[in-house]
Amino acid sequence: MVDALRVKFPGKSPSEIFSQAQEMVRWHYQWIVLHEFLPLLCGETFVDDIVKNGRKFYGWHNEPFIPVEFSVAAYRFGHSQIRPSYRANFSISNQPSPTEFFADIFDFSIPPTEADPNDLRGGKRAPRRFIDWHTFFNLGDGSMRNNKLIDTKLSSPLFKLPGFTDLDSLASRNLLRGLTFSLPSGQRVAHAMGLTPLSENDFAELKHYKTNFENSTPLWYYILKEAEIQEMGVHLGEVGGRIVAEVLIGLMEGDNTSFLSQNPFWKPSLPCWESYRNGKDFTMADLVRIAEGKVAIVL
Ligand code: HEM
Repeated sequence: MVDALRVKFPGKSPSEIFSQAQEMVRWHYQWIVLHEFLPLLCGETFVDDIVKNGRKFYGWHNEPFIPVEFSVAAYRFGHSQIRPSYRANFSISNQPSPTEFFADIFDFSIPPTEADPNDLRGGKRAPRRFIDWHTFFNLGDGSMRNNKLIDTKLSSPLFKLPGFTDLDSLASRNLLRGLTFSLPSGQRVAHAMGLTPLSENDFAELKHYKTNFENSTPLWYYILKEAEIQEMGVHLGEVGGRIVAEVLIGLMEGDNTSFLSQNPFWKPSLPCWESYRNGKDFTMADLVRIAEGKVAIVL
């Protein structure tokens, strides 16, 4: 891309060309967040409504910030989507790959000193230990696998995290964090948003704890349950979706270098991978194709 920019902007210094390329990639990424990621995660009509009619709950005085309802509860929805194991470097278009492997996210039987262990722990750099983007985004080669649903079930390795001597369950950590940050319950947030909260019968499994969690549910758990009940786990429900969409859209609106601030009518200029566009302007699959060097950039 830098080469193409050099041709387009003769006489510009390398650092000016780099800034230009950086802005172009950021704006395309922000476009994907707004037009692909958020509609898939929060629901299309919902995101359209926020873009058209504005945010209702998330605002700031001096600078945008990350609210605790987002970091301690809503955006931790991702913990429910983690699978116990993943594929890496799998063959593409039936070409066998010598580096393909399928591994658990954590395998405690492997010593931490191994340079290239047969699990997916981080902090180890080896040629096969790179994200297999084709597993996560549809690049048309049949390699993509759907995410796990957003629901109240977590994969078992997350109940014994490596690297923690105490409190090694991710669910316990999330719930305790909600308590120490004094997060409001899911029902209180739903009321504050003018929504009808889920009923206590939706939380029947919590009743035997005798803590009244079925009426005053920790926000993180409430948001997972809501996705499960309202959207069958395919995307977030109305409380979780509203928090995530308003915060991410608000952060882009509050960033004076974003395309929404600088040029809200801007449209992606990088090439779309026509056969997989599916009526969308520019998607993550297009960005991955470009990053892999499979699409020539002509600006
Ligand atoms: C194998 C995958 C993952 C593991 C092992 C993991 C583990 C953790 C741990 C241990 C924490 C800190 C918990 C605490 O003490 O409060 C955390 C925080 C968090 N995680 Fe994950 N996580 C994973 C994937 C994800 C995904 C996919 C998402 C969202 C899409 C996500 C969103 C978050 C957020 C928003 C926080 C809070 C960050 C902050 O407040 O600074 N995580 N995660």
